Order: sequence, then C-alpha cells, then structure tokens
Amino acid sequence: MPSFLDKRLIFVTGKGGVGKSTVATALGIRASLEGKRTIVCEVAASENTSRLFRQEEVGYREVELTNDLWAISIDPDDSMREYVLLQLKVKAMRDLLFKSRMFTYLAEATPGLNELVTIGKIWELTQLDRKVRHGRKYDLVIVDAPATGHGIAFLKTPRIFANIARVGPMYSQAVELDEMITDQEQTGAIVVSLPEEMPVNETATLEKELRDSVGVSVDRVIMNAVYPERFGKGDLPAIEGLTDSDEPELHAAGRAALSELRRTEAQQEQIERLEALISTPMTTLPFVFEPEITLAAARMLGEAID
Ligand SMILES: Nc1ncnc2c1ncn2[C@@H]1O[C@H](COP(=O)(O)OP(=O)(O)OP(=O)(O)O)[C@@H](O)[C@H]1O
Ligand SMILES: [Mg+2]
Repeated sequence: MPSFLDKRLIFVTGKGGVGKSTVATALGIRASLEGKRTIVCEVAASENTSRLFRQEEVGYREVELTNDLWAISIDPDDSMREYVLLQLKVKAMRDLLFKSRMFTYLAEATPGLNELVTIGKIWELTQLDRKVRHGRKYDLVIVDAPATGHGIAFLKTPRIFANIARVGPMYSQAVELDEMITDQEQTGAIVVSLPEEMPVNETATLEKELRDSVGVSVDRVIMNAVYPERFGKGDLPAIEGLTDSDEPELHAAGRAALSELRRTEAQQEQIERLEALISTPMTTLPFVFEPEITLAAARMLGEAID
C-alpha cells in the first residue's frame, strides 16, 4: 500500500478533466480494501463518485458506497448552517440567523467564505470525536479538490482569512485549518496529470506551488491514462513493411500500428519531460479502454498505485 494512504487527509488536485475524480475514487476503493474507513469528498457539485456507484445523488450526507467506503458532497451553505448550529448554543440566535438569510448575505459579501466553511467541514470529517450527530469516525478523508488554479486558491483560503482576522475565534479557527493543510505528517496532496504537453506544463507548476506556496506535502504525481506500449522501435521495419504493402488490409493495419507507435512515443516523451521537471515520485496509470470507468476499472486503477 502506498504510504501516503496512512495519512488522515489527502487532497487530489490537477488540471480540469485529467481524472481527479477517477483517481480520488480509485484511491478510496484501494484504502477501503486495505481496511481503512474512508470517505471521499466532492467539493464541486460534479457527483462523479456517486455515478460510479450507481447511487442516487450523494448529497450533504455521508453515504456508504460499499464496505468501509463513504462519500459526501460538501455544500458551503450546509457547512455554514452546521457550523453555526454547533457554535451557537442559543436557539433564538440560530433562528434569527437562519430566518434573516444572514448566511447568504454574509457569503456574498465575503469572498472565500464558501471555501473556508468547506475546508471547515473537511476538518470536521477528519476529527475522531465528531460533534455532528451520526458522525462516523474515518481513518482517511480523500478530497476531490477543485481544478488547478482554483485548487491553489482553495487550499490557501484559511491562511488568507487568518491574515485578515489577526485575532478572535475566526483567526484561531483559520489558523487551525491552515495547520491541518500544511501538516506534513497527516496531510498530503496528489497531483493528477495526463501525458500531454499542456497538462505536463501545468502539473510541473502546480507541484511547485502546492509545496512552496501552499506548503502542503506533495506525495505523488499520478500520470493518468497512459497507452500500453504495444509496439516498440524494433517493430518499425515490420510496420513499414506493412504500410508499403499493396494489399489494402495490410496497408491499413500498418498505418494503424504506426499511428499507435507514434502516439505511445509522444506520451513517453511527455512522461520523461514531467519526470525531469518534478521532484515528486510518479506513478503511471493505464488508459482504460471502456466507454466509461466501471467500478472494476476504478478498483484496478487503485490497485495499480504503489
Ligand atoms: N485512466 C483512464 N482511462 C480512460 N478514461 C479515463 C481515465 N481516467 C479518467 N478517465 C475519463 O476521463 C474523464 C475525466 O475524468 P474525471 O471526471 O475523473 O476528471 P476530473 O479531473 O475529475 O474532471 P473535472 O476537472 O471536470 O472534475 C471521464 O470521462 C473519465 O471516465
Ligand atoms: Mg472531477
């Protein structure tokens, strides 16, 4: 088992569409199979995890997907409501806040407040003595984080709030959230990439920013959707023999093989380029040749991470 799965909190980050949700789910399945009570959190409303498990929508409720694997979709409004309910002991005060639509105004007037309460909820999920009713204890919380640029801003939110607040309960809670994110022992980030020019560039930048600017421990870069190497350079003469053929079928087969060889070569080039740009260990995951990622495929991907 990869040692980062022994942490309590993992943020899965990366450029849009590279496979963050797939990897977050794959890691969740892997950890649960290793006997860890795991919850995968979506912070955007994409609902990918639940689709995979053919569940009704996973909402702001902890839903069991399979043995030891849970999911939640974190909604900022619900997080804020829950936070206030836990903080304010006086019922009249809570009623006043809810009825006056105070939250909505507050959130609209305070940039980053939604992100802050979302991270607050993530913190709450990592606690072993949870105050939330029916709250379970989790060994591992995996966060399917927002795409690249948003991801950096998201993870920096607590520090920005702490710098603004300076004193008071808001300050100490923001500091606590920042300490959770930058805790090298208990918290880690995984960066997902694709073997293509732009994702590789963006991954290299993201890996540095996460470490140097956010201060989170970057534990693994995952190169996702890598094609199998069906042909090597040594096959080139045989393939060229086919493309030179006058037989249409042989010619077509040769062209297909050649294009696949070129595609694999281009991917390998990008993989080597990224390896040279980063200082984090990299794991490659195979391209899944299926119309959609099935549960079995996600499990296979999870098991391929070591
Ligand atoms: N290894 C793989 N092989 C084949 N297809 C894959 C693989 N990983 C992910 N995909 C597919 O790529 C698409 C994007 O994956 P996914 O939704 O996990 O990305 P994402 O980074 O979460 O995207 P977003 O930024 O939109 O949330 C999906 O259709 C998914 O099924
Ligand atoms: Mg996603």
